[in-house]
Amino acid sequence: MDIEVDNLTQVWGGANGVCALDRFTHSFASNRFACILGPSGCGKSTLIQIIGGIESATSGEVRITDPADKERRRQPLGGCSLMMWQNLNLFPWRNVIDNVAFGLEMEGLSRAVRYARAKELLASVGLPKFENHYVHQLSGGMRQRVALARALIMQRPVLLMDEPFAALDAQTKIVMQEELARIFEQTRKTILFVTHAIDEAILLGDEVIVMTARPGRIKEVIPVNLPRPRSQELVNSPEFGRLYEHALRLIREEVLNAMRQQEAVDD
Ligand SMILES: Nc1ncnc2c1ncn2[C@@H]1O[C@H](COP(=O)(O)OP(=O)(O)OP(=O)(O)O)[C@@H](O)[C@H]1O
Ligand SMILES: [Mg+2]
Repeated sequence: MDIEVDNLTQVWGGANGVCALDRFTHSFASNRFACILGPSGCGKSTLIQIIGGIESATSGEVRITDPADKERRRQPLGGCSLMMWQNLNLFPWRNVIDNVAFGLEMEGLSRAVRYARAKELLASVGLPKFENHYVHQLSGGMRQRVALARALIMQRPVLLMDEPFAALDAQTKIVMQEELARIFEQTRKTILFVTHAIDEAILLGDEVIVMTARPGRIKEVIPVNLPRPRSQELVNSPEFGRLYEHALRLIREEVLNAMRQQEAVDD
């Protein structure tokens, strides 16, 4: 799916409220992995929620279309995408397989079909033996895998991910990043991935969209032409280092701007 974001503006709390996004304009191309990087409070979650159809924008628009559709009919927001949050929202009263199969259950598919699909996905995220466990019996990393399997089971062409790995320990994070890169290479979804981590953005993305401090605009789009398949070893390559330095410089400026804004509010 192609996602065209056109002059998207979001003001929270009425006319004198907080401007979270200011005329954000970008084309997210089909089958590409876009990472969105920006200081805290710059509107990243706001952007993802509007694209996912969870919130409506003050002005501007989002058009999602299938490039294979000659008539370019617009897809309803939320209809072709799935959202994965930092807070996983797994159901504690359901075991792992029923958490993963939840979306298919809502679609009325039979137990046999949804369990077969859920088992496949649990195997692909490395949890084949945990079907009957409950969420409280799993580590944070395992919960993250269950949440990823639950998102992937819906086979939506667009995946919207809002800091999904932020709460993970460093080693589990590396494994999950590689897992996601592998899944992306196999399934070629359109992925929008919000993160604060510069290395994560470069490792995963085909492009890194650096946003300004609030109100969020695009400061720069950094193309990432590192070869796929990608793995953690890439971080030692000169090209990775060059991209990292560049993104760091941009982000540093914006984080300082965000801090200045905060100081002005505090005065
Ligand atoms: N539902 C809402 N109602 C009112 N204000 C909101 C709402 N959601 C976000 N905001 C405000 O909009 C601004 C942008 O918030 P948003 O959550 O999009 O930022 P973010 O870039 O995701 O930040 P973080 O990196 O900390 O997650 C903030 O000032 C926030 O307080
Ligand atoms: Mg956020």
